[in-house]
Amino acid sequence: MRRARRIEKVPPYLFAEMDRKRREAVARGVDVISLGIGDPDLPTPDFIVDRLVHEARDPATHHYPPYEGTVVFRQAVATYYGRRFGVDLDPDREVMALIGSKEGLAHLIWAFVDPGDAVLVPDPGYPVYGTHALLAGGTVVPLPLRPELDFLADLEAVTAEDRHRAKMMFLCYPNNPTAGTADIGFFRRAVEFARDSDTLLVNDSAYVEVTFDNYEAPSVLQVRGAKDVAVEFGSLSKPFNMTGWRLGYAVGNPEAISALGIIKTNTDSGQFEAIQRAGAEALTSPAAREAIRRMRGIYQRRRDVAVETLTRLGCPVRRPRGSFYVWAPVPAGYTSAAFAAHVLEAAGVIITPGSAYGARGEGYFRISLTVPDARLDEAFRRLAACVTW
Ligand code: MLT
Repeated sequence: MRRARRIEKVPPYLFAEMDRKRREAVARGVDVISLGIGDPDLPTPDFIVDRLVHEARDPATHHYPPYEGTVVFRQAVATYYGRRFGVDLDPDREVMALIGSKEGLAHLIWAFVDPGDAVLVPDPGYPVYGTHALLAGGTVVPLPLRPELDFLADLEAVTAEDRHRAKMMFLCYPNNPTAGTADIGFFRRAVEFARDSDTLLVNDSAYVEVTFDNYEAPSVLQVRGAKDVAVEFGSLSKPFNMTGWRLGYAVGNPEAISALGIIKTNTDSGQFEAIQRAGAEALTSPAAREAIRRMRGIYQRRRDVAVETLTRLGCPVRRPRGSFYVWAPVPAGYTSAAFAAHVLEAAGVIITPGSAYGARGEGYFRISLTVPDARLDEAFRRLAACVTW
């Protein structure tokens, strides 16, 4: 058997590796607490589950769905964008349903990157952008996220040559993994950058509803003219605790959406229509605001526990306004990987080493606040017993 050379360039998927380590520790009898993957412990709100149960009984949902997503789901995404961001979307040309935003982010790259093309990828960043750029034969150009800029991408750092070569530029705000947040002024600069360099701007907005302290994160499409150069990817996973349902959307520039459709129609056959109907309910029901308010309150309390405990231990951590991650420097004398290994060994707690997100993640670790409060408290008790900064 001879596998394609392209997969030799790809490291094992971060969270698959972490899951392997977790299972090994559990097999050794360790009571492991995973603060690794961002998979909400909270259940999907009842009003969404009830809708799925109801729709799954309608045989009309049992067929292949339309490739681009159902009219009802795409209209619901457009309604959500109108109400939440004041952005008008044409559900026929500017919205596409996805089997989770990860799928769409990966496939968009295949629609835009030819061998040798450059792709600007946040460093540190969610691994999918860079991995698929490499698989498609592209060159990854790291786009530095700097702590002194509150982890905004340093657009000024991109050389004139890279600017010219770049076919795509990825952003992610609220940010995974650093929890940095962007305001509309930053998005304005990014749109201008994309326009000047003829680059497709892609904002991954999976965490746009996971925000604290009354902060409401913007959409890049709120920038005037953004649709000329940008697309945004959204997910139902994080706002509604639906990671296992696999439902997301791509919105924005119609040419980019149609290019994505060429890859997708030839690859998948869409998400189960009952899930799309329940997803439309999630995006448009009045019950959604209350569900989101409760979700924000829960993560905000957990964030405060995390930040206060780490600060007490001497860790210079920032108090994030968005995402359910806490990103902090490892203690002196450790690499990211050595610190994650130490914390698993000494405390039975899984954290994500920052180095897994790119060279600029070295020296950091990420905590996900997606475990029940009592387990989070227990994880911090154990951490406090085995680390100081
Ligand atoms: C993460 O932990 O970074 C996310 O859960 C990964 C994902 O959304 O695929």
